[in-house]
Amino acid sequence: MLCLHHFLPLGFRLAAVEFPFMDVTGASRLRKLLLLMAAWLQLIFLPPGLLVISQSASAQDDAAKTPIQDMVLKGDARCTRCHDEHEKYPVLSIGKTKHGTVADSRTPTCTSCHGESEVHVRNPEKHAFPERSFGKNSTNSAQEKNQACLACHEGGIRMHWAGSRHANQDVPCAACHQVHAAHDKVRDRLTQSEVCFACHKEQRIEIKRPYRHPIREGKVACSDCHNPHGSAGPSMMVRDSINDTCYTCHMEKRGPFVRNHQPVQENCAICHNPHGTTAPNLLRWRSPFLCQECHEPNTHQGAIGSFDAPGGREQNTLARGCLNCHTQIHGSNSPLDERNERLFQR
Ligand code: HEC
Ligand code: HEC
Ligand code: HEC
Ligand code: HEC
Ligand code: HEC
Ligand code: HEC
Ligand code: HEC
Ligand code: HEC
Ligand code: HEC
Ligand code: HEC
Repeated sequence: MLCLHHFLPLGFRLAAVEFPFMDVTGASRLRKLLLLMAAWLQLIFLPPGLLVISQSASAQDDAAKTPIQDMVLKGDARCTRCHDEHEKYPVLSIGKTKHGTVADSRTPTCTSCHGESEVHVRNPEKHAFPERSFGKNSTNSAQEKNQACLACHEGGIRMHWAGSRHANQDVPCAACHQVHAAHDKVRDRLTQSEVCFACHKEQRIEIKRPYRHPIREGKVACSDCHNPHGSAGPSMMVRDSINDTCYTCHMEKRGPFVRNHQPVQENCAICHNPHGTTAPNLLRWRSPFLCQECHEPNTHQGAIGSFDAPGGREQNTLARGCLNCHTQIHGSNSPLDERNERLFQR
C-alpha cells in the first residue's frame, strides 16, 4: 500500500494516506477500493506531459505551505535545513542516542547545546560560529561548553564535578563524551580506556604489564574505581577512600581480622599498583623488598637470604620470600597462633 502510494501524484497521496486498508469495515473498504482504482485509472490514462506538470505544480504548492520538517530532534529544522545527512560530521546520528528520544520532553534540541545562534543561522560563515561549539575550532571556554550540559546534568554522579581535577584542568564533557555518535565510546567498558589514554599515557603503559586488572578485556573499567566527574575521595575514587573502592569487588580483604596489618587498613595502594605491575599480584615490588621498605633489617626480616647462613634465612628471598611463612598478609584469624602474636601465618 505504502509502496503504491509513492508512485501516485501528490494530490492522490493524500487520499491514499487518509484511507489505509487496516482496520476498516467491509463496506467502507469497498468504497476506498473504488476510490483508489479511480485514482489509478486516471494515472494510467493521463497524458505523460500533463502528469509531470500536475506533479511539479502540486510539489511547489507543498513546499510553500509546509514548514521545513524536523529530522531527528524537536525543532531541529532551524539547523538541519543546512546540517543534514550530507554533512561529513554525522550530525543526525544524535537521533539514535538518548538525546534523540523525542517523546521525552526533557530531551534537548540543537539549540539547547549550541545556543540560539541567531547570527550563525543568518550568516553561517567562518566568523559567525554558533554561540557554542565544541570541536577543534571552538572559541568557547571549557566552562561555557560544560555549562550547556550541566544545565540538565548537574547532580547525580556529577555532584563533585565543580572543583574536581578534570573541571579544574578545563577538561570539557565533550573530551570524553561523543554526543552525536550512536556509540559513546567512554560509556562502553571495552572502549572506555582508549578515551582516557588520549590524555593518560602512563596508564596505557601500566595496563599492558604482565600483572594487571583485566581492563583490556572489559571485565574491569577505569570507571569501576574512578568517577571521572569527580568524587569526595582521593584520586577521584568512586568511594570515599581507596580501600572502600577495592572492597566493592575484594570483599574478603575487608575483614574484620583478629590481627590486622596496619598498611592494609590504611591504603591498598601502598603495596599494590592497581593499574599493572611487573611483580605478581599487582605488587609494587617483590617480597622481600616490598616488606623491607618498612620492616627493620635488624632481625630475620632484613636479612638477605644465603644458603650458608645458619637458620635457613635463604627462605626470605627464595620463591615467595617473606610470604613463604607470613602467608596471611592482609590480616589473619589464625587460631594456631598460640602466643597471640601478629605473624600473619596460617
Ligand atoms: C544557512 C545554513 C546554516 C544554518 C541554518 C545553520 N548552519 Fe551551522 N554551519 C553552516 C555552515 C556553512 C558552517 C560551516 C562554517 C565554516 O566551516 O566556515 C556551519 C558550521 C557549524 C558548526 C561548526 C562550527 C565549528 O566550530 O567549526 C556548528 C557546531 C553549527 N554550524 C551548528 C549549527 C546549529 C546548532 C544551527 C542551528 C541553530 C546551525 N548551525 C544552523 C550553515 C548553517
Ligand atoms: C546534547 C548536546 C548537543 C545537541 C543536542 C546537539 N549537539 Fe551538535 N555537538 C555537540 C557536541 C558536544 C559537539 C562536539 C563533538 C566533537 O567534539 O566531536 C557537537 C558537534 C556538532 C557539529 C560539528 C561541529 C564541529 O566542530 O565540527 C555540528 C555541525 C553540530 N554539532 C550540529 C548540531 C545540530 C544541527 C544539532 C541538532 C540536530 C545538534 N548539533 C545537536 C553537542 C550537541
Ligand atoms: C536539555 C537537557 C539536556 C542537555 C542540554 C544535555 N542533555 Fe544529556 N541527557 C538529557 C536527557 C533527558 C537524557 C536521558 C536521561 C535518561 O534517559 O535518564 C540525557 C542523557 C545523557 C547521557 C546518557 C545517555 C545514555 O545513553 O544513557 C549522556 C552521556 C549525556 N546526556 C551527556 C550530555 C552532554 C555531554 C551534554 C552537553 C554536551 C548534554 N548531555 C546535554 C538531557 C540533556
Ligand atoms: C574524563 C571523562 C569524562 C568527562 C570529562 C565527563 N564524563 Fe560523563 N561519563 C564518563 C564515563 C566513563 C561515564 C560512565 C560512568 C559509569 O558507567 O559509571 C560517564 C557517564 C555520564 C552520564 C550517564 C550516566 C549518568 O547516570 O549520569 C552522563 C549524563 C554524563 N556522563 C554527563 C557528563 C557531563 C555533563 C560532563 C561534563 C560536566 C561529563 N559527563 C564529563 C566520562 C566522562
Ligand atoms: C582531555 C584530557 C583528559 C581525558 C580524556 C581524561 N583525563 Fe583524567 N585528567 C586529565 C588532566 C589534565 C588531569 C590532571 C592531571 C594532573 O593534574 O596531573 C587528570 C587527572 C585524572 C586523575 C587524577 C585525579 C587526582 O585527583 O589525582 C584521574 C584518576 C583521571 N584523570 C582519570 C581519568 C579517567 C578514568 C579518564 C577516562 C574515563 C580520564 N581521566 C580522561 C585529563 C584528561
Ligand atoms: C582497580 C581500581 C582502578 C582501576 C580499574 C583504575 N584505576 Fe586509576 N588509580 C587507582 C588508584 C587506587 C589510584 C591511586 C594510586 C595511588 O594513590 O598511588 C589511581 C590513580 C590514577 C591516576 C592518578 C595517577 C597519579 O600519578 O596521580 C590516574 C590518572 C588514573 N588512575 C587513571 C586511570 C585510568 C585511565 C584507568 C583505566 C585505564 C584507571 N585509572 C583504572 C585505581 C584504579
Ligand atoms: C570492579 C571490580 C574490582 C575492583 C573495584 C577492584 N578489583 Fe582487583 N580484581 C578484580 C578482578 C576481576 C581481578 C582478576 C581476578 C582474576 O583474574 O581471577 C582482580 C585482581 C586483583 C588482584 C590480583 C592480581 C593478580 O595478578 O592476580 C589484586 C592484587 C587486586 N585485584 C587488587 C585490587 C585493589 C588494590 C583494588 C582497589 C584499588 C581493586 N583490586 C579493585 C576486580 C576488581
Ligand atoms: C603490606 C602490603 C599489602 C597491602 C597494603 C595490601 N596487600 Fe594485597 N597483597 C599483598 C601481597 C604480598 C600479596 C600476595 C599474597 C600471596 O602471594 O600470598 C597480595 C595479594 C592480593 C590479592 C591477590 C591474592 C589474594 O589474596 O586474593 C588481592 C586481591 C589483594 N592483595 C587485594 C588487596 C586489597 C583489596 C588491599 C587493601 C584492602 C590490599 N591487598 C592491601 C600485599 C598487600
Ligand atoms: C608500608 C609499610 C609496611 C609494609 C610495606 C609491610 N609492613 Fe608489615 N607492618 C607494618 C606496620 C606499621 C606493622 C605494625 C607494627 C607494629 O604495630 O609495631 C606491621 C606489622 C607486621 C607484622 C607483625 C609484627 C608484629 O610485631 O606484630 C608482620 C609479621 C609483618 N608486618 C610482615 C610483613 C610482610 C611479610 C610484609 C611484606 C609482604 C610487610 N609486612 C610489609 C608496615 C609494613
Ligand atoms: C621461615 C619462615 C619465615 C620467613 C621466610 C620470614 N619470617 Fe618473619 N617471622 C617468622 C616467625 C616464625 C616469626 C615469629 C617470631 C620469631 O620467632 O622470630 C616471625 C616474625 C616476624 C615479625 C614480627 C616481629 C619479629 O621480628 O619478631 C615480622 C615483622 C616479620 N617476621 C617480618 C618478616 C619479613 C619482612 C620477612 C621477609 C624478609 C620475614 N619475616 C620472613 C617466620 C618467617
